[in-house]
Order: sequence, then C-alpha cells, then structure tokens
Amino acid sequence: MDANKIIMVDVNDVGFLDNTENRTGAFIRPVDTALMLKDCYWIEFELSRLAMGWVTAAPNWEWKGELVRMGYLHTEHMKKLRQRIDELPGAALSDRSWTPERVAEVFLAVSLAPAFAEFALAYRSFVSKLYNRYTWLADALDPILEEPTLDALRVIELDRKRLIDWADPHVRFAYVDDSVSRMRFDSWRQYVDRMWDEMFTKGGSPATDWAERLQHPPAGPVPANPAVDPKYPHVDLTKYKSAMFDPNSPTYDSVKHMIFINASEMSATESLTYLYYGVQKMPMDFYHDIARHTWDEARHSQMGVRRLKQLGYRTEDFSWHPSTALTPDNLERTFPEFYSSLTMVMEPCSFIKKRKSVESFKDHGDNLSSLQSEYDIADERMHVQFGKRWGAKLFEHIDDFVTAQSVAEKAKQLHLEKMGYSQSEINGVLKSFPEFCGFATMDLKYDRY
Ligand SMILES: [Fe+2]
Ligand SMILES: [Fe+2]
Repeated sequence: MDANKIIMVDVNDVGFLDNTENRTGAFIRPVDTALMLKDCYWIEFELSRLAMGWVTAAPNWEWKGELVRMGYLHTEHMKKLRQRIDELPGAALSDRSWTPERVAEVFLAVSLAPAFAEFALAYRSFVSKLYNRYTWLADALDPILEEPTLDALRVIELDRKRLIDWADPHVRFAYVDDSVSRMRFDSWRQYVDRMWDEMFTKGGSPATDWAERLQHPPAGPVPANPAVDPKYPHVDLTKYKSAMFDPNSPTYDSVKHMIFINASEMSATESLTYLYYGVQKMPMDFYHDIARHTWDEARHSQMGVRRLKQLGYRTEDFSWHPSTALTPDNLERTFPEFYSSLTMVMEPCSFIKKRKSVESFKDHGDNLSSLQSEYDIADERMHVQFGKRWGAKLFEHIDDFVTAQSVAEKAKQLHLEKMGYSQSEINGVLKSFPEFCGFATMDLKYDRY
C-alpha cells in the first residue's frame, strides 16, 4: 500500500443529496423529510396568520387574547421546523421565502368565514389535519436517522391539545337552535374539509368553492371595523385624546391608573395583528418578532385586567381606547407609522412612569402591581429592540420614500401632530427626549393609591 497516497474529499460536493429523483427504495431520504417539513412550516405560518387575522373579528376580549397566544405558538413551531429544515438538504428557506401560492389560496378561501363559529371550525379542521400529518411523520421516520426531526415534532406535540380543543366551545353547539344557520354551518364544514385536500393536488387553482359565498360575506379576517366586546365600552374621543385621559375612570387620580393603562393594551395588540396579517413578504424573523410583541401586549392587557378585577373593579366602569383598523388605502402609510411610534415613542416613553410605578406600588404595599410593572419594563425593552430592527425596514419594504435615519424623527412628529400640538410646539420638544415624553404620555399621581 502506498503510504503517500492522498485522498481528496470535497466536503461541499453534496449536491446528490438534493436530488429528489434518486430513490432509495421506499425509504424516506433526508431531502424527502425536508420537503415534508417545509409543507408543515408554511401551514404553521398560515395558521398563525389565520388566528392573528381573526383577533379583531372576535367580539370577546378573552377570545382575542387566546387567538394571539395561538398565533404566537404557531410561530414557535415554525422556528423548530426551520432549524431542522436548515440542517437537511434540498429545501433551504431564505429571507425571501413565502407561502407557496396554492397553500396561500386555500388558506385565504377558508379564512373568509361568514361568522366567528365558521372561522373557529376552519381553524380546528386545519390544525387537526396538520397534527395528523405530524403523527404520520413521527411514525414513518427512522427513529435513529431522523431523531433530530422527531425532537422538533416532540416539542410541537406539546401544543396539540390546546390548539385542537380551543375551538370546541365555539363549534360544538353552534347554531343549535337555528336550523337555517346550522345548514350553512354544515355546508361550510364540508367545504373546509375538502379544501385541505385541494392544498396538495397539483396544478391550477383550487377547484372547489363555497356556493353560498356571495350570500354570506366574510366577517373576517382583519375586518374594516374591529369587533367590540361590550364589557369594554369605548372612550368618547371627541372629549379626550386617549382613554387614559378620561377623568371618569375609577383609577384616574392614583398610581393604580398604571394598571388600567396596562389593561387597555388590547388596543395595541389589535393594531399589531393588522400589521402581522397585512404586511406581506417580510423576512420570517419579522413575523416571529411581531408575533412575540403582539402576544406580550395581550399579556400586558391580561395582567392589567386580572389585577383590576382583584382590586374590585369591573371593566365596564372604565372607558377603553378603540383599536385602529386597517383599510386598503391606509395600509401603506398608517402601519409603518403606527409601529414606529409604538416602539420608538410610546414604549420608551412609558419606561419613566413604569419605573416610578414600581417604587410607588411598593410604598403603598401593593407588591403584585409593582411586580407587574417590572415584568412590563422587561418586555418593553425587548419591543424597543424589535422596533430598531424592523421600523426602518418596514418603511423601505413598502416603498415609502422615508429614509431609515428619519424614521424615528418622523414617528415622533406624527405622534404629536395626532395629539393636536402645533408645529412650533413640536419643534420645541422634538429634540429633547424627557420633555417629549411629557407631551406624548401622561404622568401619574404616584403619591395616591
Ligand atoms: Fe405593553
Ligand atoms: Fe410593548
């Protein structure tokens, strides 16, 4: 044997792994797994859009929070899947990747449900079928060769019950005493189940449609007028610039107004769901960050409402800020502006009163409210980072003329204009951060509880 013989190995020459034609018997090859995971990845994304898109069509504050949570969980599944897809050959995802057309068409069709119950049914049908796929995969994959994939599926499996069971109260007895609507509901059910199969048939647009579509216009997603929960009556915006300025609120004159401000964050949540659903073809990391941000705002609202109720208040005793709806003509301008002013103005400015509240609540012996403000600040700090990451890109992405550098300035300017200040007043404070915050938000009566 020649001891000097050198064997050259090109470790990058693995193109043969990408070849989907090169069968290996009936076995699932790495490239097959990657392609199957990629199908699941886009279905998770569309389920997340479906859930987020219907938040503003839900006429109940609790349901809104639940849907945001579900939308977020789907993005967590996407992260697990993408991690594994990136390890496998043949199906790499890039920043420009987007839902395949057929999948997007099918999801759009079943998302246009005539009422909330029909939406809940469509969601349950599709999420159940996705979990059936995961079950099939977990059974078919080689337990040693594909153990990393099975690990990802194991994590996704944790949410099965929560996601599938969620719709049950909405669909089990839907229209039980209304035979006409029940017929509509049953025909919708058949349609939705057929549409899932359409997703995987090759060629052309989906063949099936729902015959009653014209008779029953969709109630969501992203409705022009967000559905209102009657337990959260709206503030009179002709009298006050924002709900927090309404002196009739029971907490108005005390530090406890901080809790109410948190409770009212469902309106920011809802605006973010429009952004999440409406902005197309940003990198997937953007959707993951926005999903987290949206869910955090829902959590802030939940912690606020929970505390108000513990302190003996009813949500009906307050007036609440309405959510901002997306319409086709305002999407391009309003939403990047909304996002920038949220992450570059409202959130950084709110640090000041939140930090003071942490101490004040402690002084008044209210440790739980103090703790809530601490968690709040921790989340908001992350949101400010999200804003730095995406605010400018959002403007660029939708071909707005604004440059990246001017976004923060523009956001502040717009915020103050909306609050009714004159240009000379704005110019006076624009460069000065603490004064600017004094204008943009309100201070609390920290000495009163
Ligand atoms: Fe918040
Ligand atoms: Fe926030």
